[in-house]
Amino acid sequence: MAGLDQNEKKRRVAAAALAYVPDGCIVGVGTGSTANCFIDALASHQARIRGAVASSEASEARLRAAGIPVFDLNDTGELAVYVDGADEATRDRELVKGGGGALTREKIVAAASARFVCVIDDSKIVARLGRFPLPVEVIPLARSQIARALGALGGHPVWREGFVTDNGNVILDVHGLDIADPVALETELNQITGVVTNGLFARRPADLLLVGGDDGVLQI
Ligand code: 5RP
Repeated sequence: MAGLDQNEKKRRVAAAALAYVPDGCIVGVGTGSTANCFIDALASHQARIRGAVASSEASEARLRAAGIPVFDLNDTGELAVYVDGADEATRDRELVKGGGGALTREKIVAAASARFVCVIDDSKIVARLGRFPLPVEVIPLARSQIARALGALGGHPVWREGFVTDNGNVILDVHGLDIADPVALETELNQITGVVTNGLFARRPADLLLVGGDDGVLQI
């Protein structure tokens, strides 16, 4: 029998995340197709929550279209929970994120949340991070010099041409990095002048990984 398709796994895992959203809270909401499934699931339970903080303009628009009030993070204090997808994840709950280019705001909202629930389908699980090119958000003026610095670290940076982040910056997608120590690399990349942030979520990994597969939703 054929297994579930990836979109169905995303829908199911996103719906499972509702169980981790406390009643009456303001929930942090990520970006991407799995986060969109979560917004759709949240829409039919919106009476349970006060509203949401969005990690991108795209998610904010989708939340508002669903009738969910959207708050500025500066006005909310700490959030109880942040729900977002990822491009890849290890069983230690370390992540690569930013395929949708929202990594900086995602990292900010995750940092402001007591619990980060990451929702992925089972194709995203890896033994070691680095299969997915690592997104790095950079100040436009510094793009070429940062690309040289990333090359010196053994990476092959590719400018995501034509893409501008919600913060007005650009993205370098770094291929071929050997991510043996995600915490050390996350720290090192953020020291390069002009880097806004990088897509490694290792210093603050997910607290709970929900993985959608053919047999249901696995918790890690
Ligand atoms: C956006 C992200 C997303 O969480 C990541 O790209 C996964 O997206 P999707 O749920 O569409 O597979 O980090 O910046």
